[in-house]
Amino acid sequence: MANERTLSIIKPDATERNITGKIISKLEDAGLRVIAQKRVWWKKKDAKDFYEVHKERPFFKDLVAYMTSGPIVIQVLEGEDAVAKNRQVMGATSPVDAEDGTIRKEFGVNIERNSVHGSDSVENAKKEIDMCFSKKEIVG
Ligand code: PPS
Repeated sequence: MANERTLSIIKPDATERNITGKIISKLEDAGLRVIAQKRVWWKKKDAKDFYEVHKERPFFKDLVAYMTSGPIVIQVLEGEDAVAKNRQVMGATSPVDAEDGTIRKEFGVNIERNSVHGSDSVENAKKEIDMCFSKKEIVG
């Protein structure tokens, strides 16, 4: 199994409810290590750039509005098979479809307010990490 890095975002619904620590515990319990972390409040341009791949989708405007509605915590996670492992611990996009024990099942409110983002491939993880962090902010 490969040692990988992935990008994680704890979304505004979770920072608002002060449950970032609970979410980080679940990531750590799954064997993922936080090697970079920052709390930011995105401007519209930040969210539009980050989610550019979804720009033609009907929910794009709502997604951008939501991701700029409050602070978020952006992290780089490291571990064996980190991309797949993080997706597993996050659970399905919609909390109603997420398996028991996953972050989205436990904390997600709906498909928009689903508490966390995680890169969906090793290639996208690299892109997203480069968008959000400088090399010196990542301490592995
Ligand atoms: S995935 O994981 O990319 O396959 O999920 P997908 O269903 O394609 O959704 C991509 C992101 O868009 C968010 N999303 C929505 N936001 C607002 N309203 C609606 N209806 C909606 N549907 C999907 C979803 O939470 C995903 O966000 P991220 O941050 O990538 O997890």
